Amino acid sequence: MAKQMVIGNWKLHGSIGQIKSVLGEVAQARLAANVGVCVPAPYIMLAKQILQHTHVQCGAQDVSQYHIGPYTGEISSGMLADVGCEMVIIGHSERRRLFGETTEQAGVKLRSALDAGLFGVYCVGESAEERRQGNAEKVVAAQLEVLRGLPMGLFAVAYEPSWAVGSGVVASGEQISPMHALIKEKLDDRVKVLYGGSVKSGNAAEILAVDYVDGVLVGGAALSAFEFVGICQAAR
Ligand code: G3P
Repeated sequence: MAKQMVIGNWKLHGSIGQIKSVLGEVAQARLAANVGVCVPAPYIMLAKQILQHTHVQCGAQDVSQYHIGPYTGEISSGMLADVGCEMVIIGHSERRRLFGETTEQAGVKLRSALDAGLFGVYCVGESAEERRQGNAEKVVAAQLEVLRGLPMGLFAVAYEPSWAVGSGVVASGEQISPMHALIKEKLDDRVKVLYGGSVKSGNAAEILAVDYVDGVLVGGAALSAFEFVGICQAAR
């Protein structure tokens, strides 16, 4: 059984037809455990149904910091759990950058997700400018602050430098490995640390062989069954 995790983030992509065809093929691939697909919320129940006889888990890409009440448009962690969702991505750089989500909000969301029994995938990462200024470690360390005191095993951290997301530029092993080591040092060496940013089937084996990489968070390549299954098969 593969120990490294592979999680697909569909972002704002998909339709009933695309979910059926891509996840239908993923279901046929008989993947080992530690694989998840985070589809847009309206398709979670469909994804669950398609993947019901597999080990592949289903997830969401965000969750509300609120549990219940007058919060139009929000989806609570309890609702996600209710429809069979097993994991949720929290604090993705796109949520932080495009929707102004703060580290504090992401921390509240993660706690709410864990309370509902969901596995959290908490994203951290620096911008190109922050790296250029030599602040990458400082930025990531600050994003980790809200995880203090959380029990291990209930969440993973995904290191996604925003300059590598959707750009075709993959961070090098020399950039990934020390950052993952830092995350483990700041939290606990048992925390799973995933890398995200332009992972494809063609570079997955190399990335997954980097020290301290416990898996990958995949964006664009998760929309192709061939690509996604190829990445899962590279997991060790
Ligand atoms: O969450 C995954 C993501 O941000 C990476 O996207 O398209 O570069 O694999 P992509």
